[in-house]
Amino acid sequence: MCGIVGYIGKKEAYPILMGGLSRLEYRGYDSAGVSLCDDKGIRTYKRQGKVADLALFTTGKDVSGAVGIGHTRWATHGEPSDRNSHPHVSQDGSVAIVHNGIIENYRQLRAELERNGYRFGSDTDTESVAHLIEHIGKKTGVTFPEAVRLALREVVGAYAIAAISTNDPDIVVVARKGSPLVVGIGDGEFFIASDATAVAEYTRKVVYLDEGEMAVLKRGEDLLVSAIDGREERNPVITEIEAELESIGKEGFEHFMEKEIFEQPKTILDSMRGRLDPETGEVRLGGLRDHIDRLAEADRIIFVACGTSFYAAILGEYLIERYAGIPVEVEYASEFRYRHPLIRKHDFVFAVSQSGETADTLAAIRLAKESGATVLGICNVVGSSIARETVAGIYTHAGPEIGVASTKAFTAQVTVLSLITLALAKRRKTLSDTELIRLAKELLAIPEKVKTALAKREECKEIAKEIAKSGDAFYLGRGVCYPVALEGALKLKEITYIHAEGYPAGEMKHGPIALIEDGTPVIAVAPESETHDKIVGSIQEMKARRANVTAVVTEGDTATAALADRSISIPVADEFVVALLAVIPLQLIAYHTAVTLGRDVDRPRNLAKSVTVE
Ligand code: G6P
Repeated sequence: MCGIVGYIGKKEAYPILMGGLSRLEYRGYDSAGVSLCDDKGIRTYKRQGKVADLALFTTGKDVSGAVGIGHTRWATHGEPSDRNSHPHVSQDGSVAIVHNGIIENYRQLRAELERNGYRFGSDTDTESVAHLIEHIGKKTGVTFPEAVRLALREVVGAYAIAAISTNDPDIVVVARKGSPLVVGIGDGEFFIASDATAVAEYTRKVVYLDEGEMAVLKRGEDLLVSAIDGREERNPVITEIEAELESIGKEGFEHFMEKEIFEQPKTILDSMRGRLDPETGEVRLGGLRDHIDRLAEADRIIFVACGTSFYAAILGEYLIERYAGIPVEVEYASEFRYRHPLIRKHDFVFAVSQSGETADTLAAIRLAKESGATVLGICNVVGSSIARETVAGIYTHAGPEIGVASTKAFTAQVTVLSLITLALAKRRKTLSDTELIRLAKELLAIPEKVKTALAKREECKEIAKEIAKSGDAFYLGRGVCYPVALEGALKLKEITYIHAEGYPAGEMKHGPIALIEDGTPVIAVAPESETHDKIVGSIQEMKARRANVTAVVTEGDTATAALADRSISIPVADEFVVALLAVIPLQLIAYHTAVTLGRDVDRPRNLAKSVTVE
């Protein structure tokens, strides 16, 4: 994935680049680097580790210059190390580039360049592009931007790049194909970043480069874009962004993840705001206005998603099938795109994605589009690639999520999926008006109930201390609590590195129960529901094998609580919405286990927030 930044203007570039890199660290933090350019040449500083390590490394060094590019890395080709860090500089030092994506034909490019005498100093795919630009420039004598254009025509793969050159120290060239890139327009200056939050501090006017486009940024001049495969230049569409900078701070919390967990009463409300009428049960989803009637007639809805968004989509499946009676399939985007799925013209394919940039999800919807299906999106990031490539969709309005482990984005997605369910049920008359109004009220009551669930933090901390001593944990659920169990286990894995399995409780007896022994931690998600008795049975089976059981129960359910070693209660709620409450203690348990173990909560090892590579 990686994050890239750049600046050209009259100000000192270095602090702007470092600020941008800090905001983009959620995209990867294996290494960081910057290149600055002026009449003296290009100076590059790069370091394995986080942006803070780069800041220490550059202390006392010459970081002057009003033109620069920067990078924060999530390693794909080549281990995290100083030499594999970006920017990558060409052989004679005349070109420096930063890249987000994967160059698929880098081996061929590298072999060819080596034959032409180029020596490589890294194991990355990116370095070949830096040498290629230099090589083409020398061979053909074209200008620097044209050398970039010709080089990119030889590149196969995905990229967002920013390049600078001593041959033309007053420009930055940017291009994108498959990875996001935003150009912020200031007063005679340009800001470059992988996403708009990194430029929002300086300007609200941005240009999202389109697929296969490039731009030459020249201080004091208008921005012109052109197709990499063409030459004709045009004025781009300028978009006003709304990113709230204030919401990007930690606001007194120790970690972004902690802040985001505690923001949920507000973010769940935000994702429903203006969309649900409690008096009539009527749902207004402006983004789906032109499609909702056809959607209600659909033979089949397919959700494609990854990670936490995939689990939210399973919840969507359970809700839509049960309450609106439309068949739903949920697919891992990474599987969907390669398993030759049967997609029909009248299918509706929904991409569910926090970032709206996940490469697998993006590729899955492109495939669905080619097959003629109607492709819709549920995204959090406004203006993201998925939001722009779908015909319509709904934003979740959870605000920027910075913690790598997703929390508030999950509950916002589930809220939006619940709204879609009600909208479809209304049109299909699968629920009576009385039922619709009752469920709408249940949904509207959730933000207050989440506050009550969050107040159980101290109990979650105690459970976390126990789990922190274990090597593994099982999360069990049934019905709508099955995806909650999956999400609870994923949270624990992601930020504590403790092995965890999420399982449908009824499946335990078909294999995994063999792993249960004296003291194995089991978290049973067991609030009141249609399958409550079944999960109670599972708790008994676990206890009979001497597992150490924590039960998430509905307030007042002392009988289930008594069966477990300990319990956490959540407020009474209908099964339609209970997942939104049951997930809260699981988020808190994972968070506090990670804190107990001294883990880097917001930047867990090997992960990145936005996975813009396959
Ligand atoms: C990464 C993140 C996960 C996230 C997944 C899907 O793996 O670490 O937290 O759930 O991507 O991301 P998306 O932005 O598409 O929801």
